[in-house]
Amino acid sequence: MTKFAHELETTARAMVAKGKGVLAIDESAPTIEKRFKTINIASTEENRRAYRDLLITAPGSAEYVSGMILYDETMRQSTSKGVPFPKALADQGIMPGIKVDKGTKELAGKPGEVVTEGLDGLRERLAEYRQLGAKFAKWRAVITIGNGIPTSACIRTNTHALARYAALCQEAGIVPMVEPEVLMDADNTIDTCYDVTSRTLTALFSELEKQGVVLEHTILKVNMVVSGKLCKVQAGVAEVAEKTVKCLRSTVPAIIPGIVFLSGGQSAELATIHLNAMNVANPHLPWPLSFSYGRALQEPCLKAWGGKSENVANAQQVLLHREKCNSLASLGKYTSEA
Ligand code: 13P
Repeated sequence: MTKFAHELETTARAMVAKGKGVLAIDESAPTIEKRFKTINIASTEENRRAYRDLLITAPGSAEYVSGMILYDETMRQSTSKGVPFPKALADQGIMPGIKVDKGTKELAGKPGEVVTEGLDGLRERLAEYRQLGAKFAKWRAVITIGNGIPTSACIRTNTHALARYAALCQEAGIVPMVEPEVLMDADNTIDTCYDVTSRTLTALFSELEKQGVVLEHTILKVNMVVSGKLCKVQAGVAEVAEKTVKCLRSTVPAIIPGIVFLSGGQSAELATIHLNAMNVANPHLPWPLSFSYGRALQEPCLKAWGGKSENVANAQQVLLHREKCNSLASLGKYTSEA
């Protein structure tokens, strides 16, 4: 337990408070460039600032969203009125979070697999992010499904790094949002996704325990158990909900304060429907199941904005609608009329 124990516990619980989830707006420079290309706008510093300004200042978000995950550049930018983004969030009662990994590199000797980098200098970076207002931090590990992969070396390497980052976060008074993402891009069945997710989570909690990470002060962010995008047979909503919850129940300790999902390429609506189905069918889980979507919250809003200042108010309404739908889904109360 660190000197920050009480603060960490309060933050972790607040992140997954009833009816709340997290909005991920922490796209790295190459990723936001890809997203902007879909609406034909250039990824200039001002365009990135203007878009994040829209997301951060959307009136009403605080009812549905407990925190937003920022990228390093965003953490240092300000609203059009000159308020630093972390302060603009805190003023609304939304906790600023920060992506602290430095992306993936090919894993040596393991074709098709990657390892997340960013541990060097992390202690110092975390101290600065805390000064800038960060209450929690995210690190994303990527596990790829394919012929003969993931290897146990890939799972081990990535979960080891996740535990090192999580321990450093807690030492710094920042809640780690540990994110192992099993990608959904391949042609695998849902059962393969189940097995790989299960292996990954088992390894993750073993590493967290070995490295003394306090689970009460840790939030898990994870993929749902779904069919690969290219699989001919796509599991339906009930099967995704059932297999995801079964996988989590068999691998995630009850003491974790909450689990949030990434959307991973699911459509905005399906990500909501899946989350809702899990909560409808399982009202008495040991942890809240909520959302920490990037694309599934932002995509409709990004389209509505289209890079034009005259569209900002409408785009903010579109964002708010998705936030509300997912807030309802986290309570098992979503309907298509929401
Ligand atoms: P998606 O919901 O778009 O998968 O992004 C969430 C995220 O933060 C991935 O690290």
